[in-house]
Amino acid sequence: MTTPDEAAGRVAVITGAPSGIGEATARALAVAGFRPALLARRGDRIQALADELGNGAIAIQADVTDYDSLTAAAGRVKAELGGADVLINNAGIMLLGPFTSASHADHRRMIEANLLGAMNVTEVLLDQLRDGGGDLVNLSSVAAARPGPATPSTQPPNGASTAGQNRCARNCSPTSGSSSSSPAPSRSN
Ligand SMILES: NC(=O)c1ccc[n+]([C@@H]2O[C@H](COP(=O)([O-])OP(=O)(O)OC[C@H]3O[C@@H](n4cnc5c(N)ncnc54)[C@H](OP(=O)(O)O)[C@@H]3O)[C@@H](O)[C@H]2O)c1
Repeated sequence: MTTPDEAAGRVAVITGAPSGIGEATARALAVAGFRPALLARRGDRIQALADELGNGAIAIQADVTDYDSLTAAAGRVKAELGGADVLINNAGIMLLGPFTSASHADHRRMIEANLLGAMNVTEVLLDQLRDGGGDLVNLSSVAAARPGPATPSTQPPNGASTAGQNRCARNCSPTSGSSSSSPAPSRSN
């Protein structure tokens, strides 16, 4: 566990910070002494949260499926906060319901955000994380390992991302550590 002294001033980038698990994580990290960089598409929501959190928190409007917006976001983290020490890859979509051809476009949207989006953010921040001996945390889903009747659409992207994240933890992680977290489906806000 990180002590307050170890956390003080460290910079944590949290994707999908306006709601749910991302918002709760941002609040907890701010209380622990981290300086949060909140990333999402809804700029007004993360700006309001950054204003409330204080402690050097900044809001960065970006889409994890838009590489140019992420490159700009990484530049802001470096310029305004000195670089990322922690990355929480949390942004994503959770589709509920049956796996059918009617959801074809939604399945692709989910892969773009949950799987490729997390890879995109890791790519643009990896040098900063390595510089600071940083930590990488990836959100997946318990549905990847334990299929349930309500979550068949989430299984392919989360299964793929869990497998990849475990490999990344061993092979491409920053010096300090990397982990994945797999919440069970529940209401988060
Ligand atoms: N809650 C659960 O039961 C559960 C279970 C298993 C896994 N998970 C996973 O845990 C993560 C968080 O879940 P949650 O329940 O807290 O969800 P949530 O409240 O819907 O939050 C997800 C956040 O991701 C952001 N986001 C979505 N697409 C994005 C994109 N393309 N670019 C940037 N930000 C994006 C959204 O903000 P904007 O719309 O403003 O961009 C949203 O605030 C997700 O990856 C989800 O798949 C959740």
